[in-house]
Amino acid sequence: MISLIAFNNVSKHYQMGDTLVKAADDISMEINPGEFVAIVGRSGSGKSTCMNIIGCLDVPTSGEYILKGENVGALNKNELAEIRNKMLGFIFQQYNLLPKLTVLENVEVPLMYAGLSKADRRKKAIEALDMVQLSDKLTNMPNQLSGGQQQRVSIARALAGDPAIILADEPTGALDSKTSRDVLGLLQELHKDGHTIVLITHDNSIAVTAERIIRLEDGYVIYDGPADAPEAMVISHHVLEGGAQS
Ligand SMILES: Nc1ncnc2c1ncn2[C@@H]1O[C@H](COP(=O)(O)OP(=O)(O)OP(=O)(O)O)[C@@H](O)[C@H]1O
Ligand SMILES: [Mg+2]
Repeated sequence: MISLIAFNNVSKHYQMGDTLVKAADDISMEINPGEFVAIVGRSGSGKSTCMNIIGCLDVPTSGEYILKGENVGALNKNELAEIRNKMLGFIFQQYNLLPKLTVLENVEVPLMYAGLSKADRRKKAIEALDMVQLSDKLTNMPNQLSGGQQQRVSIARALAGDPAIILADEPTGALDSKTSRDVLGLLQELHKDGHTIVLITHDNSIAVTAERIIRLEDGYVIYDGPADAPEAMVISHHVLEGGAQS
């Protein structure tokens, strides 16, 4: 099987005065179509750095990011935007819905950028909202919905263009525990339907809902394997060795 996402020795470095910050440090990994992967790690471990690279919002300082066979590092800004529209559906902690558009219009926006006709946009948006059980809220404004419902709108928006990858960055960060479970359940359903999902979180109890965990620490991968293996929950080598711990 050809991998959907491949990081080959990906690094992202920032020169801050005299210090070199290694936000991503020689990361190699592959994600196959249909996988549900959680990228987990503490604050500052490099999650957003990886998410920005996977989401074609940023490019590595060195190493290669191959997305469905295409070397993303070689693309210019316009090409990055195009591949982003075609290949990726984003879900963020803060939903990022447009307040002056209805639920239906919000879901149609990325389909417009993808160049679909008005009729096709409407059809796909209605289908996606049906999938997240919001068919009865099409003409509501975002502020008329609960947080969980707003997040479901943003999931519908991510889904509507049928992207190769759904990229969710702390999608339950603003939700209570019951609503969080609903949203995570929805991601699991999408996974069962064959979608590829990359979930970014600092929270182990959320990461375990994925089938595979990639754990980052200080910009590098300290674990990559099944989510249900005991090693998946080993938080830090420093802690195990009894060494200095920040
Ligand atoms: N633009 C930048 N310039 C300098 N350093 C940066 C930049 N972006 C990130 N870093 C550094 O890279 C490291 C990883 O940052 P990143 O944002 O990827 O962490 P994170 O795992 O997403 O953390 P959080 O859970 O707090 O969001 C941090 O030490 C951060 O300070
Ligand atoms: Mg972050």
